[in-house]
Amino acid sequence: MSVQNVEKYRIRLNDGNSIPLLGLGTYSMPQKTAKGACKESVKIALDLGYQHIDGAFVYFNEHEVGEAIKEKIAEGKIKREDIFYCGKLWNTCHPPELVRPTLEKTLKTLQLDYVDLYIIELPMAFKPGDVFYPKDENGKLIYYKTDLCATWEALEACKDAGLAKSIGVSNFNRRQLEMILNKPGLKYKPVSNQVECHPYFTQPKLLEFCRQHDIVIVGYSPLGTCRDETWVNVSSPPLLEDPLLNSIGRKYQKTAAQVALRFNIQRGVVVIPKSFNPDRIKENFQIFDFTLTDSEMKDIERLNKNIRYVELLMWSDHPEYPFLDEY
Ligand code: A2P
Repeated sequence: MSVQNVEKYRIRLNDGNSIPLLGLGTYSMPQKTAKGACKESVKIALDLGYQHIDGAFVYFNEHEVGEAIKEKIAEGKIKREDIFYCGKLWNTCHPPELVRPTLEKTLKTLQLDYVDLYIIELPMAFKPGDVFYPKDENGKLIYYKTDLCATWEALEACKDAGLAKSIGVSNFNRRQLEMILNKPGLKYKPVSNQVECHPYFTQPKLLEFCRQHDIVIVGYSPLGTCRDETWVNVSSPPLLEDPLLNSIGRKYQKTAAQVALRFNIQRGVVVIPKSFNPDRIKENFQIFDFTLTDSEMKDIERLNKNIRYVELLMWSDHPEYPFLDEY
C-alpha cells in the first residue's frame, strides 16, 4: 500500500480531528530493550507509512521517538502534520498545576511543538514528585488522592493553548468516564479511551458505552502482549496461537496477528501493536487489503474470555483502581 492511501484509514474524533486506525506501540521494558531499538523501529514504521505513534514519558524512550520523527522530517520523507503522536500524563503528575509543565517536558523530549493526543494514562494518582514510583519505608507505593475532573480541566487548558490537538483518557472505566462527561462546565469531552482490547478481551460493554458518547476506543495489547510474566497475567492462552484466528488467516493468506488487528479496525477500534522487529512492523501494517465477513467478525467476537492480560493487580487497593467494576 502506498503512503498516500493511508490517509483514508483514519477515524473521526469528537473534536473534529481524526486518528489513524493503526499506530505503532512503543512500550518495551527498558531493562530488556537495547538502546536505540525504539528509534530504529519508529524510523522503519514511518518509512513504511505508519502515521501514528503511541508513546509515553514513562516508557523512558520518548526521546528516541522524537529523534526518529526529527530525522524523517529532515530527510524530507514526512511532514509533521502527517504524523499523529499520542503522549501520556503519568500518575505522579495529576495535580492540575503539574499538567502543563509535564506536557511541556514531553514536548521538549520529543522536540515537537505539540502532540496530537494527550491522555491521562491511568485514573490512579501517585504522590507527586520526580520519582515515578514513589514508595514509603516499607516499599509500599504511595498513592495520592486524585481529582480527575480537576486534572481534566488542566488538559482542556493544554488543548486551548495548542500544546495538544486532542485530549483523552486511558484505563478509565464507565464510572470514571461518566465523572468527566457529567462534570459541570465540561469544555471538551475525551476523544478516546485507551484500554486493553483484542479478540480474547473484546470490551463489548465499554465499547458500546463509548460509541454512545462518541468516544473512540484505542486498543492496547491488540496482539495479546509480550507475555512477560513479571507484569502479564498469562492465565489466558497466547492469543496468536488461537485456532480460529489462524484458520481465518489461512483463508486470506494472513497471519493470526493480522486477523486480530483487522478485527478491531473493522469495528472502529484503533490498534497500536508494539513491535521493534522490522518484519513484524511491516506485517502489522498490512491489514488494509482484506475484509473479514460479518460471520467471521461474529465468530471472532465469540472468542472473548473477559480476562485481562494487563490487570495491574499490584495497584488494586488504589481507590481509583479501574478494573473492579464490570466495565
Ligand atoms: P516484537 O517487538 O519482537 O515484534 P502487543 O502489541 O499486544 O502488546 O504485542 C506486542 C508483542 O507482540 C511484542 O512482544 C512483539 O514482539 C510481538 N509482536 C508484534 N507483532 C507481532 C506479529 N505480527 N506476530 C507475532 N508477534 C508480534
